Amino acid sequence: MARELPELEIVEPVDGEKVTVIFHGTGKQVDLPVLSPTHGPKVIDVQRLYQDTGYFTFDPGYMSTASCDSTVTYIDGGRGVLLHRGYAIEELATNAGFIEVCYLLLYGDLPDAEQLREFEDVITHHTMVHDQLPQFFKGFRRDAHPMAVMVGTVGALSAFYHEDTDVTDPHGRMVATHRIIAKLPTIAAMAYKYSIGQPFIYPRNDLDYAANFLHMCFAVPCEPYVVSPVLARAMNRFLVLHADHEQNASTATVRIAGSSQANPYACMAAGIACLWGPAHGGANEAVLSMLMEIGSRDRIPEFIKRAKDKNDPFRLMGFGHRVYKNYDPRAAILRESCHEVLEELDKKGEPLFELALELERIAREDDYFIERKLFPNVDFYSGITLRAMGFPTAMFPALFALGRSVGWVAQWKEMIEAPGQRIGRPRQRYTGHPVRPYVPLDQR
Ligand code: ACO
Repeated sequence: MARELPELEIVEPVDGEKVTVIFHGTGKQVDLPVLSPTHGPKVIDVQRLYQDTGYFTFDPGYMSTASCDSTVTYIDGGRGVLLHRGYAIEELATNAGFIEVCYLLLYGDLPDAEQLREFEDVITHHTMVHDQLPQFFKGFRRDAHPMAVMVGTVGALSAFYHEDTDVTDPHGRMVATHRIIAKLPTIAAMAYKYSIGQPFIYPRNDLDYAANFLHMCFAVPCEPYVVSPVLARAMNRFLVLHADHEQNASTATVRIAGSSQANPYACMAAGIACLWGPAHGGANEAVLSMLMEIGSRDRIPEFIKRAKDKNDPFRLMGFGHRVYKNYDPRAAILRESCHEVLEELDKKGEPLFELALELERIAREDDYFIERKLFPNVDFYSGITLRAMGFPTAMFPALFALGRSVGWVAQWKEMIEAPGQRIGRPRQRYTGHPVRPYVPLDQR
């Protein structure tokens, strides 16, 4: 798994560097400061542009716009690098427990042994939910999508913790972050149990985060359930690999929701809602459906041909990424994890896994995918792994939400604590009707 990380250029800050915008019509010119990052492209600061010129910038999909300063995560998509607080994802996924990564994302540095013990202790002792919360589940149909249930029940936490949640107070923020990290696995496991008609299983304080989650999902009250260390390790890796991914759609949603100083639990529900979309957290489910549709090796060329055909809407699911134009480092780790899980469960030779490996091999030798820099993304192997572990496909995005919840709270905390923090309020280019007089109803 260890690979040499490509050298990342540290950008030297250039004092006073600026970009000059010249308006040729009026001859007016404005200097815009250039900000230097640690790694990555420099940033033109346009904050004063409107004030100084009366112009907005236009970038609806945030194709060239940095929405904030952040110290949490760095991605170099061209080189396939993902760093959390400066540490490579490969090292974290191989060596660190999810709780250690949570600490790192929240507080900026790896914990020492005592800090980790204290943090684990505090998270462990927040895993139970208020005894009133299970009542909410009864309001949902049994066949409700787990993400719908998660949006509702995580949002409902705001009703339990509103008066005592002061986001302007560091202690209030800390307690909220601990509760979110601790209670989301309990709620996700409850959503799963409710969907299959089994009783909820209480958290177990003697298990680590990943093992406790598997226990809450797969144990039943009538017999002992021993969590497989191999599956707990795979769950841990899955959570670490999904923990944060800088300013993706759901994280940006949480930041903007929280920028009004809204209740943080309600902000998490907003993040879950955004993640639920098929363009974001729903792709691993689509990979599985695609592999089932392909069915056998001999049909791979037919589907590759379809993926390349511009008149066919079919795309190779789990391939390509807006940011990664190289192998998604998370996909490589998940492929290995998938292998371990299948071996542990005596499912070696699982047809879907074999099919996925062959599909990857063929696609990576094909000029169409090579030229467009289309590589497997994080979703390509995660669905097969989770399915082998016993999760139904509808639970996949809920598991993604569980891992990503720490990224959401870390970025929410960073946003609130940023100097000069203000409400997120995009502007627009208005393209509607020009001003017109109201026409009374009898004259229309
Ligand atoms: N299969 C076939 N062709 C593809 C694929 C694919 N999976 N992905 C991109 N392409 C092609 C496009 O058709 C386009 O070709 P063209 O230049 O000839 O027009 C070219 O590659 C560039 O693709 P874009 O759509 O411009 O890339 P973009 O960055 O907008 O899209 C996306 C990225 C949405 C992830 C895309 O690759 C895709 O749809 N992949 C499949 C869905 C998927 O796996 N999503 C999960 C992403 S990971 C995540 O969200 C956690």
